[in-house]
Amino acid sequence: MQVVTTVRELQDYADAERAAGRRIALVPTMGALHAGHLTLVDEGRRRADRVVVSIFVNPTQFNDPKDLAAYPRTLEADLAACEKGGVDVVFAPEAPELYPDGAQTIVELTELAKPLCGRTRPGHFRGVATVVTKLLCAAKPHVAVFGEKDWQQLTVVRRMVDDLSFDVDVIGCETVREPDGLALSSRNAYLGKAERAAAPVLQRSLTAGADAIATGERDPARVLDLMTKLIDAEPLASLDYMAVVDAKTLAAVDPLAGELRLLGAARFGKARLIDNVGATAR
Ligand code: PAF
Repeated sequence: MQVVTTVRELQDYADAERAAGRRIALVPTMGALHAGHLTLVDEGRRRADRVVVSIFVNPTQFNDPKDLAAYPRTLEADLAACEKGGVDVVFAPEAPELYPDGAQTIVELTELAKPLCGRTRPGHFRGVATVVTKLLCAAKPHVAVFGEKDWQQLTVVRRMVDDLSFDVDVIGCETVREPDGLALSSRNAYLGKAERAAAPVLQRSLTAGADAIATGERDPARVLDLMTKLIDAEPLASLDYMAVVDAKTLAAVDPLAGELRLLGAARFGKARLIDNVGATAR
């Protein structure tokens, strides 16, 4: 496994692999890798000949400097996990490599970045869209693999790739969960024991909403009420938002119809967790 730190090195690698007729998969990460990330690597390997994992804690997507400073940085363990997972190249740049002095180009989505996490974390998706653009330009992948846990991020990236005609297939991978339903996340490391025990309520409330839709509920207000009450009943949870929206546009739907996504975010102590599940209303 190679570790490269400059865009030039990664572009040279990508050019050589492409010239040899090999397909490249990119798995963008911010490190603190867990089993969920490794399923993205596996998916990349299924779809390409070479897997590149980027490990970069992207400063521009953190709206809170304290959150950025506290974000887990575990490069050595991450490199070991990548090696074990059969990754070909790790791209681990320092911030000035991706944001050189004088940089002034940003990528911003006008609508998809506004609701849900975009409301609570202003500028977050501008940072995500900008860094993902840079990573795509550096790794020149045929496919880029993202987790469905960040459904809004996946939706933003898909839209951006279409809008800017990037020649890459964006693949979403199902969320990996603990046996009690909690979605794997680097932020789970912030949970104390009691908070860890409480956190699965987020997935339980989303699933309750999806079950209500599956059994015929078509009023979004009633689904929201049901989900919100479950979160509110957990004293260690502080609700950020709950929503049921069109899975592709993230727009409100009333009455509920078509492919839907139920999304939620809540704080458990220091950890702000997000999750989502799908539902179909025919
Ligand atoms: O999902 C993440 O880890 C990050 O938002 C990403 C896509 C690597 C961009 O920094």
